Formats: sequence, C-alpha cells, structure tokens
Amino acid sequence: MPVTTHPTPARPQNLLDPGFELTLRPMRYPRFYERYRDAIKNTWTVEEVDLQADVPDLARLTPGERHLIGRLVAFFATGDSIVANNLVLTLYKHINSPEARLYLSRQLFEEAVHVQFYLTLLDTYLPDPDDRAAAFAAVENIPSIRDKAEFCFRWIDSVQELDRLRTKADRRRFLLNLICFAACIEGLFFYGAFAYVYWFRSRGLLHGLATGTNWVFRDETMHMSFAFDVVDTVRAEEPDLFDEELGRQVTAMLREAVEAELQFARDLCGDGLPGMNTDSMRQYLECVADQRLARLGFAPVYGSENPFSFMELQGVQELTNFFERRVSAYQVAVEGAVALDEDF
Ligand SMILES: [Fe+2]
Ligand SMILES: [Fe+2]
Repeated sequence: MPVTTHPTPARPQNLLDPGFELTLRPMRYPRFYERYRDAIKNTWTVEEVDLQADVPDLARLTPGERHLIGRLVAFFATGDSIVANNLVLTLYKHINSPEARLYLSRQLFEEAVHVQFYLTLLDTYLPDPDDRAAAFAAVENIPSIRDKAEFCFRWIDSVQELDRLRTKADRRRFLLNLICFAACIEGLFFYGAFAYVYWFRSRGLLHGLATGTNWVFRDETMHMSFAFDVVDTVRAEEPDLFDEELGRQVTAMLREAVEAELQFARDLCGDGLPGMNTDSMRQYLECVADQRLARLGFAPVYGSENPFSFMELQGVQELTNFFERRVSAYQVAVEGAVALDEDF
C-alpha cells in the first residue's frame, strides 16, 4: 500500500518571511511570549472606572476648557478602532511568529477595552444624543481630527495590496506601517491626547478620566514597546532594510505627525489656556518625536525639552497606582521587572 506523506514546510528563516508559522517549541522569540504574559497581568475593566465622578467637574469648566474636552473626546471616539483595524489587517498578517501573534491577540483585546472605555466616556460626558452623534462623526466633519485619521488611513492603505512580504521593498513598506502605528499614532497622537488629560488632572479636574487614562497609557506604552521589539528583531535579522532612505522616510513621517497633532492643538487650545497652549504642546510633541526617533536608532531632529512637568513621572506614578490597586483589590502577585517606556 502506498504511503502518502505530507511534507513539513520549512520553518521561516526570519520574522517577516511569508507564512503562517505554528510551531511554539522550540520557541524562536521568547521575548514576545514574555510580553504576552506581562500584558495578561494588566487586565482591567471599564466598570472599574468611575466616570460619573467627573460630571460635577464638567459643569464647572470654562467655555475654553469645555471646547477642549469636547474635541478631545471626539478624537478618542475613533482612535483606537483605527489602531485595532491595522493590527488585524496588517500586523497579524505579516509578523510570522505564533508567540508574536499571541501578543497581538492580547493587544486586540486591550484595544477593544479602550474602545469600550471611550464609548462609555462619550456616553457619560455627552448626554445629549445630537452632541454624541456629532462627536462620533468628528472623523468626517472636524478638520483637525479628520486630517489625523487620513494620515492613519494613508499608512493602512500603503500596505493593503501586499499579500506577502516577498521583497526587500515589501518589507520596508511593512516596517513603515508598523513604525507609523507605534511611533506616530500610539506613541505621538495618543501621547498628545494623554497630556491634555493629565493637564486637567494637575488642576484637580476629571479624575475619572485620568484613572482610565492611567491604564490606557500603560497599555499603549506596552503596545509601542512590543512594536519596537519587532523592529529590533527585524533589524538584527535583516540589517540591510535599515538604510538611510528608511531613516529619511521615518523622520519625514514623524515630522508630518507632529504637524497634524499641532493642528489639533491649535483647534483645542485656541488662544491658550492656563498652563496649556499650542507653543508648549509643540515643545512636548517635538520632545516625544525625538525620543521615538532615538529609540528607533535614528537621529533626533528637534532638540526640544519636555515643558509639561505633569507628564514627567507619569509612567512611574501610573505603575505604582496600578500595582497598589491590583494587590489590594485582587491579591495578584506580580513578580519581576516590568519594562516601561524608557522615556516616561
Ligand atoms: Fe488603544
Ligand atoms: Fe494601542
């Protein structure tokens, strides 16, 4: 009787080689598995955040502050859905490692929690159905939000016809998409948004929003760190992808992201509010953009200092709050060092 055999496909050589690798042992990228396990320790739910506590504060805001928070929540209405879409359409497809796909599955869940958090935020902050509908439509109607969304969509579209990363050029296109979402969207647009939240908190306002933002901030920092781990891995495996042209493209992309976020800042801040204006937001964004470039191994371009003292210890403070809450609420033991973004 003839014996039929099914040839085992060769394991991929590199992380971006096309395919659907399934083999977890021997594990090629234990770092990604560790990131998955770390992320599981950070589980939180929207129901733990008391947004109702913010309602009396909202009634006390000045017209300028009310305009700012209205625009900010309108950005939040769609930001994480865009990231989740790219995760499924691009990252999960092309990062060919089952342990990395475990992390991405977890990240997708976290993005869903973020979407739910911002849905609840808008439902609480905007009781009028017309105001709520307008906020969710901001991605089409408010130019400063629409332009940021279009920046994101352009980088999603740039890889959509790529079925497999066959050539070096394909891989560079993928890397630009990955770097865009980590450094420009999660690492700059969202960091800009978080600064407004912590500016309110520094003035004793909107603590419910700040509490949820602490956990979102921590998640986003880890999403970015994972993406940068992927970049490091690809750089080690295929160093020739990281040429001067890629450096120029990443720098230009970050400059464009800073300008888009600044247009948003002009819309939010108008002529300026106490402790928050377009000039200080420009400095902050330039400082953050330089840190992203440096982390990616490219030369910083702005040389700006962070002007927002309320952001400086954010990572540490948020981490402390998180573990205090975890330990007291659930007695979950957390061991070992947790990598925060080096920058905050
Ligand atoms: Fe998110
Ligand atoms: Fe994210």
